[in-house]
Amino acid sequence: MPQLTAPQFTARKGGDEKLVVLTAYDHTMARLVDAAGVDAILVGDSLGMVVQGRASTVGVTIDQMIYHAEMVGRAVENALTIVDLPFPINHYDTGAAIDAAARILKETGCQSVKLEGGEAQADTIHALVTAGIPVMAHVGLRPQSVHQLGGYKVQRDQDQLSADARAAAEAGAYGMVVECVPTTIAAAITDAVPIPTIGIGAGPACDGQVLVVNDLLGLTSGYVPRFVKQYADVGDAIGKAVGAFAAEVRRGEFPGADQAFELSLRTFLIGAV
Ligand code: KIV
Ligand code: NA
Repeated sequence: MPQLTAPQFTARKGGDEKLVVLTAYDHTMARLVDAAGVDAILVGDSLGMVVQGRASTVGVTIDQMIYHAEMVGRAVENALTIVDLPFPINHYDTGAAIDAAARILKETGCQSVKLEGGEAQADTIHALVTAGIPVMAHVGLRPQSVHQLGGYKVQRDQDQLSADARAAAEAGAYGMVVECVPTTIAAAITDAVPIPTIGIGAGPACDGQVLVVNDLLGLTSGYVPRFVKQYADVGDAIGKAVGAFAAEVRRGEFPGADQAFELSLRTFLIGAV
C-alpha cells in the first residue's frame, strides 16, 4: 500500500472515519505506530520534551528535527509523514521557512511540514504551499510561544481562533492541529474550514485526533496533561523487564545455554547484510 498523501488526508474531511495521528521520533517507534495503522505520523518538536528532556520545545533545532525525521522517514510505509518546523523558523522570514522545509523534504523522505500559526503566519503557509511543500497549520495553544503566552493554557479567544483557522485554510494548508481549545470553539472551527481539524485537548468534534505517543503508552514521567488518555503502561513493563534481567545477571542465570556459543556452533549472528 503506498503512503497516504496530503490531498488524500484533506479528502477525508467530513468522511465517516476520524483521522488518527500520533507522534514518533525514531525508527523503532515509527515502525510500530505505522504497522498499527494510523493515518499520519508527526515528528513533533515535542521531541524536545519527551526525548531530550527539555522544559519546552523552544530549544529544538532544525538539525535535530532532521535527525529524527530521517529515522522516521526510513521506517514509515503507509502513513502520511509530517515534520514540525522548530522555533522560530516560521515566524520571521518566508525564505528561511522554505529553506528549512525544503531540507526536511529533501533529506528525510518525509512528505509534509507543520508550523505553529494561523493568521499571522498565512504568508509563510502560502509561500511554502506555492513552493510545493504541503503544510499542516497549528492553531490554539502554540507551545513554541509559551514564554509569550505565560504558560500552557487553554485558548479561548473564539474570534482570533476562527480567524487563525480560516487564514490557514485560505493560505493553502492541507489540515490543521487545534490544540487546547474548548470543545464548542473547536466544533465551530471544524464546521468553518474545508480542511481537517486534528484536535489535541480540543474535544471530540474535530475531524481527527493526535496525541504524543509517549503519553499514550505510559512512558511519560511527571506531569501528564488532562487531555491525555493512557492506553498502556509501557513504562511499568520496561521497569519489570529490566528488573528481571538485572536479577538474572546477578544470580548468574543469564546468559543460559540458549544465548551462548558452543565451540561447535557455526552460525551467522544476524544473517547477511
Ligand atoms: O510537537 C508535537 O508533538 C505536536 C502535537 C502535540 C500536535 O505539535
Ligand atoms: Na509541535
